[in-house]
Amino acid sequence: MATNRTFTMIKPDAVANGHIGAILNDIIAGGFKIVAMKYIQLSTETAGNFYAVHKERPFYGELVSFMTSGPIVAAILEKDNAVEDFRTLIGATNPADAAEGTIRNKYAKSIDANAIHGSDSNENAEIEGNFFFSQFERF
Ligand code: TYD
Repeated sequence: MATNRTFTMIKPDAVANGHIGAILNDIIAGGFKIVAMKYIQLSTETAGNFYAVHKERPFYGELVSFMTSGPIVAAILEKDNAVEDFRTLIGATNPADAAEGTIRNKYAKSIDANAIHGSDSNENAEIEGNFFFSQFERF
């Protein structure tokens, strides 16, 4: 995957609260092109592996159980400076600190159920996109 791509998940809280359409609109209005997308329910094993980097953190167990609590939308997005610009579009991890108008400011209620994921580096964007999508599923 090129470095002008990032990976995202619309998390179970945002899906359950009916925000898929609004969030996709914000993503597209933000200048991102969707190059891969799927609607799936994560297993405990898959969510645990995806968040393995947080294994020692106190919130790991709750994070895995939250991420498996309902379906998610996973997608690969393309734009110049995708990783950084997408982190700006979604806002701070804690929605209480997320800037006005950001996706987490508008659609997230708490730090653990914070509506959306965005990769934090080009390297992780590639790893995370490859984790969810085969070469036949991304364009
Ligand atoms: P992190 O990688 O720090 O944030 P971000 O998603 O903004 O890159 O954390 C990953 C996820 O873990 C975060 O989106 C929500 C969850 N989390 C908690 O539940 N509690 C916490 O205190 C933190 C820091 C994160």
